Amino acid sequence: MLYTKVAGIGHYVPEEVVTNNDLAEVMETSDEWIQERTGIRERRYGIKHEETTTTMGVRAAEIAIERAGIQKEDVDFIIFATLSPDYYFPGCGVLLQRELGITKTEVGALDIRNQCSGFIYGLSIADQFVKTGMYKNVLLVGAEMHSMGLDFSTRGRNVTVIFGDGAGAVVLQPTEEENRGILTTHLHSDGTYAEKLAFINPGAHGGYHHKKMGNEVDYGYKDAKYGEMFLTQTMMDEAHIYPNMEGQFVFKLAVQKFPEVIQEALDKTGLTKEDIDMFVPHQANLRISQFVQKRLGLRDDQVWNNIQKYGNTTAASIPIALCEAFEAGKVNKGDLVCLAAFGSGFTWGSALIRW
Ligand code: UT7
Repeated sequence: MLYTKVAGIGHYVPEEVVTNNDLAEVMETSDEWIQERTGIRERRYGIKHEETTTTMGVRAAEIAIERAGIQKEDVDFIIFATLSPDYYFPGCGVLLQRELGITKTEVGALDIRNQCSGFIYGLSIADQFVKTGMYKNVLLVGAEMHSMGLDFSTRGRNVTVIFGDGAGAVVLQPTEEENRGILTTHLHSDGTYAEKLAFINPGAHGGYHHKKMGNEVDYGYKDAKYGEMFLTQTMMDEAHIYPNMEGQFVFKLAVQKFPEVIQEALDKTGLTKEDIDMFVPHQANLRISQFVQKRLGLRDDQVWNNIQKYGNTTAASIPIALCEAFEAGKVNKGDLVCLAAFGSGFTWGSALIRW
């Protein structure tokens, strides 16, 4: 029987620190509002023209590969989770392969688009491939360069102040050691509220979903030909080309789903809240993490939060936080690590790992 272990982990955050006060210079917001509602003090932005979602992923991947004690050419499957890909297509997986210099073609590259839960979805996919013996070194990367796609006017402040750039990566390998590695993963989705947290334009929807739901938006489609509907002048003129979020709606569901999906993982494995050594939640809002921590009855030193420094880095948030906890000596062999995420889709999930 094979299990999937985390053989190496790495993360990368760009150097440029953007404080709440920096943002207050370009939009109507304040350090006080952002800290009070989210816990965020600052975030990082990648260097324009030099860094991308892929290049940050590469930096994190190189560390994970080195720590796993393998060579780049040993990677036999790449999974890349992001909502801010370099290109609409092809995905970042193949770009990462090229940037890493992996020239062999006996490697699969898969991009997944599950936003905040992308890393957990990726972990679950990797686990299926590894424990069945199909792959021996799966490289899973979560990376985001949000700063390229945010609205920096006051109109976009409820979304823009929250997000930051960065990347995290793990190398997953098989182990025969009993009760080691990924013990369980749990994935969920509910498309009912897809537009509550979404980045919908440019896109091939042609207004279909809005029409169906009775909340049509004028995207300037009148007389537009097929090819012109993907990105219209109206979309650009009226700023319909940025992410949108109904924050309170998302918040209420998040605080419900986090505890539920964690309990599901505990029930499946016969473990209890008391068995958790380290909880690494997706960094969506410090208030959400604190709420879940309380529900789990965990001490502050059993939860890793870094949203204060990096904001919400979506698919990268869990691997960055997990890597920091590991580097700080807070995740050691035999520890039970609990991961959980909730976000756009909505999709959510959890994982329990015996380190
Ligand atoms: O990772 C993916 C999952 N995402 C989440 O889980 C996010 C969940 N939601 C949240 O974290 C919170 O809802 C937010 C932090 C996004 C927003 O906090 P909130 O307390 O729900 O604020 P709100 O959206 O209800 O807005 C309250 C007020 C509004 O003003 P009025 O209408 O009361 O006058 C907003 O216009 O705050 C205003 N506002 C801001 N003010 C200053 C919104 N954004 C800002 C801002 N600075 N950046």
